[in-house]
Order: sequence, then C-alpha cells, then structure tokens
Amino acid sequence: MKILVTGGAGYIGSHTCIELLKENYDVVVLDNFSNSCEESLNRVQKITGKNLFFYKLDLLEGPSLHQVFEDHKIDAVIHFAGLKAVGESTTIPLKYYQNNLTGTLNLLSVMEKFNVKNLVFSSSATVYGDPATLPIKEEFPLSVTNPYGRTKLMIEEILKDLYQSDKEWNIALLRYFNPVGAHESGEIGEDPQGLPNNLMPYISQVAVGLLPRLSVFGGDYDTPDGTGVRDYIHVTDLALGHVQTLPKLVSNPGVVIYNLGTGNGFSVLEMIKGVEKASGKQISYEITDRRPGDIAACFADASKAKKELGWEATKSLEDMCNDTWNWQKKNPMGYRNHPKKD
Ligand code: NAD
Ligand code: UFG
Repeated sequence: MKILVTGGAGYIGSHTCIELLKENYDVVVLDNFSNSCEESLNRVQKITGKNLFFYKLDLLEGPSLHQVFEDHKIDAVIHFAGLKAVGESTTIPLKYYQNNLTGTLNLLSVMEKFNVKNLVFSSSATVYGDPATLPIKEEFPLSVTNPYGRTKLMIEEILKDLYQSDKEWNIALLRYFNPVGAHESGEIGEDPQGLPNNLMPYISQVAVGLLPRLSVFGGDYDTPDGTGVRDYIHVTDLALGHVQTLPKLVSNPGVVIYNLGTGNGFSVLEMIKGVEKASGKQISYEITDRRPGDIAACFADASKAKKELGWEATKSLEDMCNDTWNWQKKNPMGYRNHPKKD
C-alpha cells in the first residue's frame, strides 16, 4: 500500500513515516518545510534503511498537488500538514484559516478527483474545550476557544459532510492528546522554531542550557499539586496509532473517531521531575500566572482505540523523558546545525 503523508517532515509526521516504512508501506511525503526541514526525512531514511518519495510542495498550491497523484497510485492519505501554535493562531487567525482550511480543501478536491477516499486526519483534544468530567470520551460535547482549535473542529465537520455526500469515503479523525518524546535513536525529535510554546521542549531546552528557566503557568489549579495536568503520549506510540488505523480504513468504516492518549494525567511538576531524573540536571523554574485559555486537567479515555484498533500506548513517563533528553542532548540546536541537502 502506498501512503501519502502530508506534513511528513514535521514532528509527528516524521515519526509516523518511520513506523510506516518499518511495516513495509510505500511512503510519499509532501511538505512545504514551513515548520520543518529536509534533514528529518534524511534521518528517517537512515534509521529505517528505506527510501521514501518526497515533494517540497505547499498544499495551498492546488494544481501542483495533481502531480503527486499522477506520479503515484496513492491508497490512503495521512494528513498532518497544518499550522499548530495556539497563541500564534489568535494573532494571525486568517493565516491559520487559510493554511489549515484551504490546504485541506485543496487536498480533498485532488483526492476526490483521483478517487482516493481513505483519509486519516490529525485532530486534537483541543476540540473538547474544557471538559465537564474526566476522562474524556469521544462522544463528549465539542467546543473550542481559539482559531487553531476552530480549524480542527471545522475540518472535522467538513469531513463528516463529505462522507454524508459520498459514502465511499473512509475517514479517521484522530484526536491527539499531548505528544512528547522522540524516536529512541535520538536522531529525530521535536524541533520548535524560536521559543517553544509547549512544555516538554521548553523543559528540555532549560535542561540543556539554552533557556534559563521555565515559567510554570499557574500553581493554583484544582489538581493534586496545583499545576496543570495533561495526558502526555510518546510520539512513537502516537505514530503507531496511525499505522494501526490504516487496516480499519480498509474495512470501510465511514467516519470513525478515536482519542489517542494514554489515559494517564501528569502534572507540570511531575514532568519537570521526570526530565530532571532523565538528564541528571536541575530544572530551574518559577510559578507564574496561569496562561490564558489553559484548562486545569485533560486526559483521555482511550479504550475505544484499544477495542476497535487494537492500539494502546505502551511507553511510560520515564520513556518519554529519557527519549526527549536523548534527542535534546544529541541535537541541542535541533536540526539546525546540520547543513541542508539540496
Ligand atoms: P509540525 O509543525 O512539526 O508538522 C506539521 C508539518 O506540516 C510541518 O512539517 C510543516 O512544514 C507542514 N505544513 C504546514 N502547512 C503546510 C502546507 N500548507 N503545505 C505543506 N506542508 C505544510 O507539527 P506536528 O506536531 O507534527 O503536528 C502534526 C499535526 O498534528 C498538525 O496538524 C497538528 O495540528 C496536529 N496536532 C499536533 C499536536 C501537538 O501537540 N504536536 C496535538 C494535536 C494535534
Ligand atoms: N506549561 C507551562 N509552561 C510552559 C508551557 C506549558 O507551565 O512554558 C503548562 C501548561 O500550562 C499546561 C501544560 O504545561 O498545563 C501543557 O502545555 P502545552 O503547551 O505543552 O500543551 P497544551 O495542553 O496547552 O496544548 C497541546 C497542544 C495543542 C493541543 C493540545 C491537546 O499545544 O495544540 O495539547 O492535544 F491541542
């Protein structure tokens, strides 16, 4: 089977390419490198000893997309490409709507034209807003508070409409909780541009000495230690969730929705302790004001994915912290100190 991976050079996409290649899928990657670089794909090929096809292409350039589908007989698409910074989406919402919505619409039009109707879409736990109870189940009410989250929810709705209009589509909406960690080789990992928005890359950059101290956003939440609680999931577990979704699509399920999380919540202070243990470094931090829009706690009920896909996260908090540190220590500047191949 040949899989098109949009955004395949990015954090989750590159880890998913590894797991796809390991399972002998043929992989075609499309990415515009707006938040990634080609070096990640070089390393994917080095780690697996296998080649993938690659197109430097923007989903907004609709016509060029045709070429990919003309060159390859694609069986299914895993659609990661999108902008993902919550804070940034509130300052440049039009760019987020343009990139995420128009990019997805262009992709869907070309898929339809070439009769490729199997799609896995990267959604997010952000579509649950501030849940009334925990753990979060797939049928919980949906609401969003920022333009990034709204693009995810709107795309989910668009995909459901598409299926209603044509029952030949098979679409998996995968709602990720908080992806962290890196490939066990330490060769690929999360490489944020500029100051990290997310907790784990921030902590690991403090550990490696790139940043002086972490701000812990809020110490007075109604959680066991007062700091925010999230369902952190190892990126390799998440990648495997995509691989295990593909056979489900082939069984013509229509639209299916799965939470991909571990079902466990850890606090900010627990994550700091985890990285301290993995790195042997003390993480300097201070408790500051809450970050606007944050919720106290969020973790998944991931039993539906286990029951229907046979998928379950297996990596521990220790694995997540060890692998984050291994990547950070081997690549303190991310991919940047490696010359780009032309
Ligand atoms: P990432 O930024 O590392 O990867 C996204 C990739 O898409 C990048 O390589 C970027 O260059 C590419 N891209 C963006 N716009 C494009 C366009 N118009 N055309 C072609 N390529 C384009 O992000 P990630 O963490 O790997 O996330 C992947 C997906 O998962 C995103 O859709 C994101 O919203 C979603 N998601 C991520 C998280 C998270 O915390 N990382 C949580 C929930 C959902
Ligand atoms: N946090 C800090 N300091 C920081 C960064 C984060 O204390 O410098 C705290 C946050 O307040 C929160 C926790 O660490 O309690 C996790 O924050 P992240 O920014 O890492 O992740 P979020 O849960 O806010 O959001 C992430 C992605 C969203 C996605 C969501 C659910 O950024 O895109 O997970 O999947 F929607």
